[in-house]
Amino acid sequence: MTNPTKSQPAQRVIIFDTTLRDGEQSPSCSMNLEEKLRVAKTLEEMGIDVIEGGFPIASNGDFEAVREIAKTIKNATVCGLARAGRKDIDRAWEALRHGARVRIHTFISTSPLHMKHKLQMEPAAVHQAVVDSVTYARNLCEDVEWSPEDGSRTEHDFLCRCVESAIKAGARTINIPDTVGYAVPDEFGALIAMLRNRVPNIDKAVISVHCHNDLGLAVANSLAAIRAGARQVECTINGIGERAGNAALEEIVMALRTRHDVLSFTTGVKTDHIMRVSRLVSGITGFQVQPNKAIVGANAFAHESGIHQDGVLKNAATYEIMTPESIGLTKSSLVMGKHSGRHAFRQKLRELGYELGDNAVEDAFRRFKDLADRKKEVFDEDIVALVDDAGMGVNDHIKFVSLQVVAGSKGPQLADLELEIDGVVRDVQARGNGPVDATFNAIKKACPHTARLQLYQVHAVTAGTDAQAEVTVRLEENGKTVNGYGADADTLVASARAYVKALNKLLTKRERTAPPESVASGAVSA
Ligand code: KIV
Ligand code: ZN
Repeated sequence: MTNPTKSQPAQRVIIFDTTLRDGEQSPSCSMNLEEKLRVAKTLEEMGIDVIEGGFPIASNGDFEAVREIAKTIKNATVCGLARAGRKDIDRAWEALRHGARVRIHTFISTSPLHMKHKLQMEPAAVHQAVVDSVTYARNLCEDVEWSPEDGSRTEHDFLCRCVESAIKAGARTINIPDTVGYAVPDEFGALIAMLRNRVPNIDKAVISVHCHNDLGLAVANSLAAIRAGARQVECTINGIGERAGNAALEEIVMALRTRHDVLSFTTGVKTDHIMRVSRLVSGITGFQVQPNKAIVGANAFAHESGIHQDGVLKNAATYEIMTPESIGLTKSSLVMGKHSGRHAFRQKLRELGYELGDNAVEDAFRRFKDLADRKKEVFDEDIVALVDDAGMGVNDHIKFVSLQVVAGSKGPQLADLELEIDGVVRDVQARGNGPVDATFNAIKKACPHTARLQLYQVHAVTAGTDAQAEVTVRLEENGKTVNGYGADADTLVASARAYVKALNKLLTKRERTAPPESVASGAVSA
């Protein structure tokens, strides 16, 4: 095991972000092309080394997303996932080929359980598939990563044999997944050490790890693996991902930074971008960050008890092991209010880490002025919420125009809604069982559809009764789910905006969707 001491130079760990692939794969976390591109650009600005953009054979949407991300991103490697068959690998390469720095990530299960029950293949055939798939991918792309799915439950002899063959066939990165989050830290670190000791050509590849969080150990396992010699970690923003999620990127990066005394490793991540990307991902996916979540939870830097508050006032280090600024929770120099002009607003956006086009700035500025008229203090969080809501959907078929609602205990609740549909303004009225129901019924009346409402979630952006509401709406149609996000000082307006956004996404999805190939089995498609 590598035991870094202060006299050794810090070693660089490659940060591989799979928010757009494994994160997006988790139930109801799907993102559209525009959103994926937005996240990818933010990850690039943040200094992420590798961005896994998707699984190109899984759907046309994934294919397009990987292709656009590969074309757009210049300062990070863009990666596409493929099973071990030629069709998968060709599709991944087709999506990646125009990118500046690209990688094919191919995988096949190697554990006895997966080989027998999922793949229904003998180990010899799986081994041959490893050689064939990596050789094939390597003929297309210089940078190939190989993963033995369910690696942590794979027999060691077989794992060593597959890893050695994958490296011989040209894999530059060997990624060991703890697919089902079964490992514990000592054991997982020992697995990496075992590979380093037993695989003769292991020095020709970077060892990577990919940990799931079923036992809440994904970050601990990743750190143990780094200590044992892994030099790439695969992780996601806010830890989103299949089931209990993946290792949280922000936790790994901040653990390496904060405990540099015992973990002498560096990353290229600009940690002060963490809050921004965390908010962006939770806004887009509708996956709220739990308040006590490490690093990015709303309470992560909040001190409630008197003793703690007293300590922090005397010296923040008494109860804060890292500064809020180090993750981008800055108290900004510019206080925004209704007298603030365009110039100050642009400057504020820059401070908050946004570089927006003119139309998006204009849209956000108009909404900011409107908000400042209604709200005493406009906080940074308010502006972040506005920007995340504005600037998107320029080409949307349906646009929110206005809403008037009659609510209260006397009923009936009535919504009078104006929507612009393909350039034509429609005014509709609808009743409902409460003002939200009335609003959504009005939207349904204006744009009839069969999508089912799966989630309706409201959050206050800041404290106070004049706080903006952030609303997430999740709609489902024919097994496809989409999230819409809206922010406004009026909860009902935010709700209508969120619903309309989700509806627009469904329309785009309908336009784009062609029957996806089934990837549920993970079997090899030759
Ligand atoms: O969890 C897993 O095993 C994966 C692989 C495809 C790397 O996501
Ligand atoms: Zn995974």
